[in-house]
Amino acid sequence: MKSKEIREKYLYYFKAKKHKIYPSSSLIPDDPTLLLTAAGMVQFKPYFLGLSKPKAGRITTVQKCVRTSDIDIVGTTTRHLTFFEMLGNFSFGDYYKKEAIGWAWELLTEGFGLEKEKLWITIYKDDKEAFEIWKNSIGVPEGKIVRMGEEDNFWKAGSTGPCGPCSEILYDLGEEFGCNDPKCSVGCDCNRFLEVWNLVFMEMDRDEDGSCKKLPQKNIDTGMGLERIALILQGKNDIFEIDIMAPIIKEIDKLKIEIDKSKKEEISKRVICDHIRAVTFLISDGVIPSNESRGYVLRRLIRRAIRHGKLIGIDKPFLSGLGESVIKTMEATYSDLKENKDYILKTIRSEEDGFNKTLSQGIQILNKIISDLNKKNENIIPAEEVFNLYDTYGFPVELTKEIADEEGLKIDENGFLNHMSKRKAVSKEGWEEKHFVTGKEVLKNILGKVEETEFIGYGEHKAQVRILKILKGAEIIKKAKKGEKVEIILDKTSFYPEMGGQIGDTGKIFAKKGEVIIKDTQNLTGGIIVHRGEVIRGEIEENMEATAKVDRKRRRSICSNHTATHLLHWALRLVAGSHIKQAGSMVGSEKFRFDFTHFQSLTEEELKKIENIINLKIFDNHPVRAYETSIEYAKEIGAIAIFGEKYGDYVRVLEIGNFSKELCGGTHVGNTSEIGILKIISETSIGSNLRRIEAVTSNSALSHINKEEDILQKLSKKLKEKQINLPKKIETILNELKEKDRTIERLKSNMIKGIAKGFAKEADTVNKSKLIARIVKDSNIEDLKIISDYLKKELKSGAFVLGAVSDDKPFLLVSATSDLIDDGFNSKEIISEISGIIDGGGGGKPELAQAGGRNGQKLQEAVESGFQLIKKAIRSRQKR
Ligand code: SER
Repeated sequence: MKSKEIREKYLYYFKAKKHKIYPSSSLIPDDPTLLLTAAGMVQFKPYFLGLSKPKAGRITTVQKCVRTSDIDIVGTTTRHLTFFEMLGNFSFGDYYKKEAIGWAWELLTEGFGLEKEKLWITIYKDDKEAFEIWKNSIGVPEGKIVRMGEEDNFWKAGSTGPCGPCSEILYDLGEEFGCNDPKCSVGCDCNRFLEVWNLVFMEMDRDEDGSCKKLPQKNIDTGMGLERIALILQGKNDIFEIDIMAPIIKEIDKLKIEIDKSKKEEISKRVICDHIRAVTFLISDGVIPSNESRGYVLRRLIRRAIRHGKLIGIDKPFLSGLGESVIKTMEATYSDLKENKDYILKTIRSEEDGFNKTLSQGIQILNKIISDLNKKNENIIPAEEVFNLYDTYGFPVELTKEIADEEGLKIDENGFLNHMSKRKAVSKEGWEEKHFVTGKEVLKNILGKVEETEFIGYGEHKAQVRILKILKGAEIIKKAKKGEKVEIILDKTSFYPEMGGQIGDTGKIFAKKGEVIIKDTQNLTGGIIVHRGEVIRGEIEENMEATAKVDRKRRRSICSNHTATHLLHWALRLVAGSHIKQAGSMVGSEKFRFDFTHFQSLTEEELKKIENIINLKIFDNHPVRAYETSIEYAKEIGAIAIFGEKYGDYVRVLEIGNFSKELCGGTHVGNTSEIGILKIISETSIGSNLRRIEAVTSNSALSHINKEEDILQKLSKKLKEKQINLPKKIETILNELKEKDRTIERLKSNMIKGIAKGFAKEADTVNKSKLIARIVKDSNIEDLKIISDYLKKELKSGAFVLGAVSDDKPFLLVSATSDLIDDGFNSKEIISEISGIIDGGGGGKPELAQAGGRNGQKLQEAVESGFQLIKKAIRSRQKR
């Protein structure tokens, strides 16, 4: 049975049991406490917790998952993966253990035709109910129902949230898959007993302190690994042999250089096959390689795959080619892969090229570190060096360790881990701060107590509303008076909460006896909108009627910027290529920024072109329409969804003219001419393959243009030239300056030579050598070198001590002609004797040495003493 048929059979089995089929959610979970979607239940967490109501009490899915907990054993077994598909059925307070167990058994034994004798069951140690059902209703022999502890049979997603006891169904692949240990049985780590399906009886909610309380309802969450059931149904020995893996392994076989048929080679091939699947899906869901959070997971997978490629002798870029093979194998089920193909492959290629550079750069740095250590006779690479290699150069720590090993060195692993945990703490802080705008305590106090806030602000700025709750810190208060900072929840509102990159509205809430200035509006879980501000007059009370008034002028600028963001997105794809994807945006009132994926910076011409076509669209007065429709229809008409964003069944499409269609919940202008004008103010890099454009519209664009105009006017006045002629004028000035620089250089060099000539004339002679010791006024060390060069050239034999003061600091230079050097004269010895006089130090070679110091007062003394020394040196040499 092909994987495709297995997916279908599963979904239709549960559809017949009245389950609604849901699509897989993104690998990027809509949940700040989770890094990646690692199970089918992730998208349903709010339903399990009772925070929102599901559209159906029974749902079934095939969910793409990435789990990195097993990353180190992937490849070493025939069953572990980081990317896999999970077949699942879920009940939210609907059916429970009896049905979940009964259906799982029926589907496995009758639907998929597995032999009952080969199935084993595990249950949570105290779960009598599950035991009874398995034994009495299903008829599994008692000896094949194994009780396990918390570790194995109590399931939880992460450290907090819904959890519960579980029961697993395992398949005995046969003794030949076992470890030959006579004690080998269910629970053994070897390949024999394959866990196929996990049935979780989700009835608890775990808090941060580890305590569990009962959920309001009893739920079911099951998960069966598609690849594992496929292994059984396709009669394979290894998960990497099933239909959706084999084509990728085949490609790897074509690339690899046969080293030997060792186990190591098998491991590397499996790792590459698994990782490239994860990589392809992660990129398609909007994860971008980076050094943080899920971007780092992606980067690590790519790098591990490349390293394993090298281990089996692949020495050219190969991963994007394999990505193509993943897309080909999976696109019939996951159409996004096809749509994003170009982008996915380019991202992989660019990361691979980057890593190859990183590798050679890192190896160079590491070699230097190693040779320094060897010189010092030390054998541990310090943690800072290891961390720096990893953090700044992206050099994998495992590789540092491997290379160190080969050189007989060790790395300070604990120290490195310390650095890492500090680093993680920092990135985690940033992450949580962004998401938990309101304390969790507040959330707990209001969730379930207030309804979703109705948003009526697309057309209206003013609304008649009722104050439902007033929050102050973590408390709910009944009244607030002048001066108090509060958060207000209304029954409905015209204030747009910060969402989808658009900032929250500001404005005022007027009640009968009081007035509140609203400085920000935010969206809480469950569709509750909070208005943050301060009571500036009288007092307000719970349940009061009020008028909510949005700051219209500010909102108008935000609308203008938001529609312009869509125009920019459209124009970027048109000019720079349709692989461009929005990676984020910030729509403010003053300006907006748009982050996107692209592999190089945009050229000036491209930017000009983009700006021009946007402005033409603005002037053309295109209507801007928003409407709600089904996600299917939106996709059909080609509306662009934001990369990695999660959408419900109904979506809002924002259409500009007939050229731009995007899914968007934001507020917009009615037609493009309201934007007035757009100016791009910057284009920068914000990470590898990530760029940011900042732009302004309407009033802000006008101020921007005015500011530039102002600068031009000032320049024109200063240079006494018409604005139109300024570029030419500036070019002329720059050329003149260059010419003048050349003249100055010439004059200076003549002048210095003049000085040098004077020195030569007045020089003392000892035997046949000239001795010069002088301070050169208004000069620097460079000038001293020129003089020394001149003297060396002009005089047959001589030794020189020269001094200068530049930037209030004294400098000394000692040099001599080659005959004296040959005779043993050493400038360096002289400089080290006299540099102390000016409180300094220096160095050099026998033919030329120099020093800088701190005490300019003593320069004369130093030069004189230098003179005595060179005199003595020359006399003593010539006596010999
Ligand atoms: N959440 C459970 C698991 O991931 C069952 O779906 O194993």
